[in-house]
Amino acid sequence: MSSHDTAVSDDALAVLFTDAHTARSFREEPPPIEQVRRAYDNARWAPTALNSQPMRLDLLASPEARQRLAPLMAGINQEPVLGAPLVLIVSADLALDQSMRELGASEQMLERLAGSLEMRQGLARDSALIQLGYLVLALRAEGLDVGVMTGADLPGIDAEFHADRPWQTIAVVCVGHGDADAFHPRAGRHDFETVSQVL
Ligand SMILES: Cc1cc2nc3c(=O)[nH]c(=O)nc-3n(C[C@H](O)[C@H](O)[C@H](O)COP(=O)(O)O)c2cc1C
Repeated sequence: MSSHDTAVSDDALAVLFTDAHTARSFREEPPPIEQVRRAYDNARWAPTALNSQPMRLDLLASPEARQRLAPLMAGINQEPVLGAPLVLIVSADLALDQSMRELGASEQMLERLAGSLEMRQGLARDSALIQLGYLVLALRAEGLDVGVMTGADLPGIDAEFHADRPWQTIAVVCVGHGDADAFHPRAGRHDFETVSQVL
């Protein structure tokens, strides 16, 4: 127990929150895919709308795959993608019906979703973003460093990597172990009073 009675230790809180921040350059050794699988196995317990679980992952484990991605990143984000030993493309699957049916969603709800691309897009994107947040925490819990990036031609990434499926890219995540230059000085954070009102 931590000194102020949180459910996890101060050490765990430091790994997940206070000591964790964006890595921008990485050592060469690639994290085992098994580690990403373990991270996913924890992150998948995130809450999602209607238990839809729309997040999908491309694991760019080969330098060739990362080279296909690099030109689609904003200029400043190209070097991190080329230098990272593993890069994830994180997407929202707009074809929710099949996987939701497997998980027991009602036919009535599936029909409503099938009739509205706007509803599917909103639901898939909102929940995939929540899953992305959990995935970042889960990767950090594995002792990995990550850098999330959305500065990219996201529709271009879909054209390059998802031509055969309705996955809509929401972010690119570099994964590995940060090198000596990986971390910029810690950026500030708002305090509770600034961001909240108690009614
Ligand atoms: C949705 C999202 C998009 C981001 N896009 C980029 C990006 O395109 N390029 C980049 O260098 N960092 C990007 N970042 C990293 C943020 O700039 C970084 O998390 C923030 O400045 C806080 O820094 P810290 O994590 O080191 O505390 C992104 C982070 C998030 C969550």
